[in-house]
Parts: sequence; structure tokens; C-alpha cells
Amino acid sequence: MSNILVTGGAGFIGSHTCVELLNAGYEVIIVDNFSNSNPMILDRIEKITNRKVKSFNCDIRDENTLEKIFKENKIDAVIHFAGLKSVSESCQNPLLYFDNNIVGTINLCKIMQKFSVKKLVFSSSATVYGDTSLPPYNENMPTGSVSNPYGRTKYFIEKILEDLYKSDNKFSIIILRYFNPIGAHESGLIGESPSGIPNNLMPYITQVAIGKLDHLTVFGNDYDTKDGSCIRDYIHVVDLAKGHLKALSKIMSSQGLDVYNLGTGKGYSVFELIKEFEIASGKKINYIVGERRSGDLPCVYADTTKAEEDLGFKAKFDLRKMCEDSFRWQTKNINGFEDNITL
Ligand code: NAD
Ligand code: WQD
Repeated sequence: MSNILVTGGAGFIGSHTCVELLNAGYEVIIVDNFSNSNPMILDRIEKITNRKVKSFNCDIRDENTLEKIFKENKIDAVIHFAGLKSVSESCQNPLLYFDNNIVGTINLCKIMQKFSVKKLVFSSSATVYGDTSLPPYNENMPTGSVSNPYGRTKYFIEKILEDLYKSDNKFSIIILRYFNPIGAHESGLIGESPSGIPNNLMPYITQVAIGKLDHLTVFGNDYDTKDGSCIRDYIHVVDLAKGHLKALSKIMSSQGLDVYNLGTGKGYSVFELIKEFEIASGKKINYIVGERRSGDLPCVYADTTKAEEDLGFKAKFDLRKMCEDSFRWQTKNINGFEDNITL
């Protein structure tokens, strides 16, 4: 079975993808600097899968260490999750984001090329569609009208990968544009563990549910949508992880550069998500309605046709299951990985 190097494999989406890879028989090598994750997750991944994971504490910008990893390990393909992802932090410190995400990716690609490892899956985001088209977003729609430095890093990296492929068509690259990943592994052993007050909706809701935060603020109820709140395409992180295995199968057997949306194709409003979470958890979610958050689009959801037809990928889990699994993870890990619960 192939050896897959997973950058950012200790993070939220990376860890769930490592579980799916190990369960499918792949060998996994994680490269992570743990800037937004906890090494404890490695034990959890091993516990869930009953398999060993090789891991390196390494920043992908550290050319010497990364090169050594490529030299000393047989690597057949790379899934590249490593990156910083906070929209607000990227507005305060854009250079950090350009350096970490873009320079990090260039460094990784240079070393891949040097060692003739030319199969790559890259984590992009629906944010690259910006506000020039209307949903459902399909892969042929224009990209680049992004509203923040984080989103710009994804757009620039997509362009860098396109140019790389044009210059060396022995590469086989898949760019995956994620919509809104939520949920957690059913075991409750791995999940999203944001540091500080969460920026994203689901971790905020789960922390209100367990009483860690007092109430949620719904960012605007005067959008031109079914109930006035914003609509998003929430996808279970385990479905998302499985999408990476489909992408991997494709790059292992062909050359080219392709882009795929990973979403469910269904949009739910903030109020609908709160309601579904209350049913799934049996908890009341206190909320107030506040101002719109700058940069938020009213409605974002995917056209999933291309991923279905080319990759055979279709998300399986519904919103109820996403809420149940997010809630289970949060109740078992009140402070995320900081709790260090015994396995
Ligand atoms: P995450 O922060 O949980 O995981 C990212 C991992 O990368 C972390 O473990 C972090 O320590 C590591 N990392 C960051 N910079 C690094 C560096 N320079 N060298 C080595 N490791 C580094 O985030 P996530 O939610 O799992 O997201 C994974 C990828 O998917 C990111 O690239 C993110 O931008 C992208 N993405 C996420 C979402 C989302 O909503 N979560 C949506 C679209 C795209
Ligand atoms: C979802 C909805 C908010 C928090 C972000 C990034 C995007 C991608 C995924 C990486 C919105 C509303 C939220 C709160 C709220 N990440 N909300 N109160 O903004 O769709 O996407 O994560 O690529 O690039 O921008 O996700 O979870 O922050 O918000 O009302 O406290 O919940 O307005 O409508 P978003 P989110």
C-alpha cells in the first residue's frame, strides 16, 4: 500500500483524513508543527485505528528538515492540509498568512519536485469563489474576488499549482474546495479544538451547549434568505475526509490538474442549524441577534456534480448526525485536547 505524507495531519480535517487513510490500509506520515493542534491527537488516531502513525514535528517552511523527511522516507503522494485558517487573524497579520501558507506550499512543492514526488492533494476553500457568482458554486465559476488575506492565500496557491502543473505535466494535482466542515469522529476521540473563543459557528454552539460560553450571537437576521440568517453548506468532516481518499485514488492512477468542490449541495441557515443542534443534543442554545459580520456572504453552497461524476464522491451524513457528533466530541472533551482525558 502507498505511503502518504500528510502535512497538517494533526489538525481538524487532517486527523480525520489520517483515520480514513489508516483504515483503508495506507501508511501515513504526518508533518505538523502543532501551531494549531496538539500532539496528543496522534495517540487518539492510533487508538481509533489500531495502527501506528509516523509523525514529525516540522514546519513546512523548514527546508532542511522537510528535505530530510523526504530523503529518509518513501513517499508516494502528499495531502497538504498545513496552513493557518483564521480569517480575522489574517486581516491583522497578512504577512504571517502569506509566509506560512504560500511560502510553506512553495517549499513543499520544491522538495516534492526534487524527490520526484508528483502527486498532490491540496486543501482549498469555497472562499475562492468570492462574491461574483451566485450559488450553487461550480468549479468553472470565476475565482479570486476574495475578501481577506486568508482567502487570498488559497487563491494564490491554486494559481501557483496551476503554473507548476503547466511547467511539469508529470505532476498529478487535485485541488479540493471545502465548504463548511463540522462534526467529529463518532468515537468522540478527535474533533475540532479551537484555541480561545471560536470564530466558527459550530464550535461556538457546542461551547454554549456545555455552558462554557453564555450565548451565541447570530451575525445578522436581515439577509435576503429564507429566515434572514446566512446559509452555508455544512459537510461532516468524516465525509470530507473520505473525499480525500477518492481524490487520492484518482491522482494515483492519472496525471493532470483538477479542481473539485467538497460539499453536500444543501444549504442550511444559522437558525436551522441551531434548531437541529437543539434536537440532536437536547440542549437549549441561547442566542442573541447581532450585527452582520463584515465579509459574510448571504448564501454559499456547492454544486457537487463534478465530484460525484469524476470522483464518485457523495456526502452521506446529514445535519442531525453532524450535530450529534460535534456535541459528543465537545461533551467528552470540554476543553478540547487540553483536557488530556485518559483513553
Ligand atoms: P487546523 O488548523 O485544525 O489544521 C491545520 C494543521 O496545520 C494544524 O495542525 C497546524 O498545526 C498545522 N500547520 C499550520 N501551519 C503549519 C506549518 N507551517 N507547518 C506545519 N504544520 C502547520 O485546520 P483544518 O480545519 O484542519 O484545515 C486544514 C486545511 O483545510 C487548512 O489548509 C485550511 O485552510 C483548509 N480549510 C479549512 C476549512 C475549515 O473550515 N476548517 C475550510 C476550507 C479549507
Ligand atoms: C458560518 C455562518 C456566520 C459565528 C469560514 C471561512 C471560510 C472557511 C470556513 C476556511 C456564517 C454565522 C458564525 C457566530 C454566526 N474556512 N455565525 N455567529 O464564515 O462560512 O466560513 O470557515 O477556508 O473561509 O470564512 O464559517 O462557521 O464562521 O460561519 O452567526 O458566532 O455562521 O455569519 O453565516 P464561514 P463560520
